[in-house]
Amino acid sequence: MEIFIGTEAECDELGAREIANQIKSKPDCVLGLATGSTPEGIYRKLVEKHRNGEVSFARVTTFNLDEYVGIPESHECSYHYFMDTNLFRHVDIRPGATHVPNGNAPDLNAECKRYEEMIAQSGGIDLQLLGIGPNGHIGFNEPGTPFESLTHVVDLTESTINANSRFFESHDQVPRQAVTMGIKSIMQARRIILVAKGASKARVIMKAIKGPVTPKVPASVLQLHPNVLIILDHDAASELTSCIK
Ligand code: GLP
Repeated sequence: MEIFIGTEAECDELGAREIANQIKSKPDCVLGLATGSTPEGIYRKLVEKHRNGEVSFARVTTFNLDEYVGIPESHECSYHYFMDTNLFRHVDIRPGATHVPNGNAPDLNAECKRYEEMIAQSGGIDLQLLGIGPNGHIGFNEPGTPFESLTHVVDLTESTINANSRFFESHDQVPRQAVTMGIKSIMQARRIILVAKGASKARVIMKAIKGPVTPKVPASVLQLHPNVLIILDHDAASELTSCIK
């Protein structure tokens, strides 16, 4: 596991550069993408790199980690909307090459199966970008999720509902369920980049990187992956650096 610690701007630049390099070395690569406030800066930098002519998404395929259940794709808090406004509409990615789970599918279990099959048919994910929830979740894999899990429907924990309520008008409007790629789906990616920013992530980053590998801290599973880069700003790294000193 490689760890980079820097300013927020350095984290965004490194994340964007890693994704751009992945695309340059394999123009038809498959990217696993994440939402949340953490990757916004990385997407801004990627859009800049596209506008500078440094990177083209023309042959790229993407799969997003997750989506809420029961809000329309056009809802400002949906992950479809997030990806469209933060990345897809600003780059030359083909319509149809971007995939986000359908949280409005009439049969959600069938949707999970279909999503997992599409990832496999695409040849699997070359590079998976991840954020981390304050409780250690990756995607929407809440504490206790089995490491063998594939794409599934999840009941969000109260802590995640609270953490994500800042994006919604009120706590009551936060969906109670989501569709998420599972831990195994994530671990099958050939390379994983997890990004964390801010002091509110310092404790969980310490647990995920230095603590025991346990489903109680879903991100700790990354210790078992052979090709992981962790990108941290100084605040998110503060508990790690104070233990090294
Ligand atoms: C959501 C997403 C996660 C994301 C997490 C952290 O719950 N499902 O994929 O990592 O939020 O979000 P933020 O980056 O806003 O702290």
